[in-house]
Amino acid sequence: MASSQITSRNIPNEKIKRFQKKVLSFYEKNKRDLPWRKTTDPYKILLSELMLQQTQVKRVVFFYEKWIAKWPTIDTLASASLPEVLQMWMGLGYNTRAVNLHYTARTIVSEFKSDVITAMKQYKELPGIGRYTSQAVLIFSSNADLVTVDTNIRRILISEFRLPTKISDKELWDLAEKCLPLGKSRDWHNALMDYGSLHLTAQKTGIKPKTQQSRFEGSNRQVRARILRCLLQKSMSLTEFENIFRLEQMRLKTIIDKMIEEKIVIKRSTLYQLKEL
Ligand code: ADE
Repeated sequence: MASSQITSRNIPNEKIKRFQKKVLSFYEKNKRDLPWRKTTDPYKILLSELMLQQTQVKRVVFFYEKWIAKWPTIDTLASASLPEVLQMWMGLGYNTRAVNLHYTARTIVSEFKSDVITAMKQYKELPGIGRYTSQAVLIFSSNADLVTVDTNIRRILISEFRLPTKISDKELWDLAEKCLPLGKSRDWHNALMDYGSLHLTAQKTGIKPKTQQSRFEGSNRQVRARILRCLLQKSMSLTEFENIFRLEQMRLKTIIDKMIEEKIVIKRSTLYQLKEL
């Protein structure tokens, strides 16, 4: 098997060209009308990308429009309080994304003169922003000749080019670069998103995401979400949490201590509260 294994290096150019044509013509016929595709504002694109991580497109459309109506710019978002931001995020899940977004907005305003593009180029300073998100923002806002590889794009490349699922990120990103039609990065990535979500689905290909999220039910992530929801209402003590959640004190304490470390929660005598409340 090893001797005949296909890697990204030996894919003929004609095959790449055929793949580009197939995806772009699929997009011509099936493109989705999504609100973040009607803007080149990097703040709005950043917001959409963070919302789209782990949440379905349909749900994101509703939250995205509500959010933009309330905070149309990075400066307005940076002026909002963390509890306000968390309140607006409720329903999207994975609340750490909201905490990171709020912190990122404030950092972009204070350290990058509100310039989202420059901040994305230095994404390593920003919590919750990885290579995928920073490149996606640059691509969708500026049509820059860059690539990004998310779960969808990874699945498409593996399936189309019959690659081994254990292929390294480096090889996948290299192949993605080889596939990019220069000057069309925005359309190309939108096309890949649609091709992956509407046609070459995970169910159809059987190709699983590389890191599967741990099950939410009973997970620390679920406990964190419940703690945040409680603290949006009022300050609470460890004993109150114990009584409500019926969880072991040590586990609760570890989770809350981590939230304190991340500057989401603070402790005032025996009561925990959201920072900035
Ligand atoms: N998933 C991640 N980014 C997306 C986008 N821009 N459009 C649709 N789905 C996405």
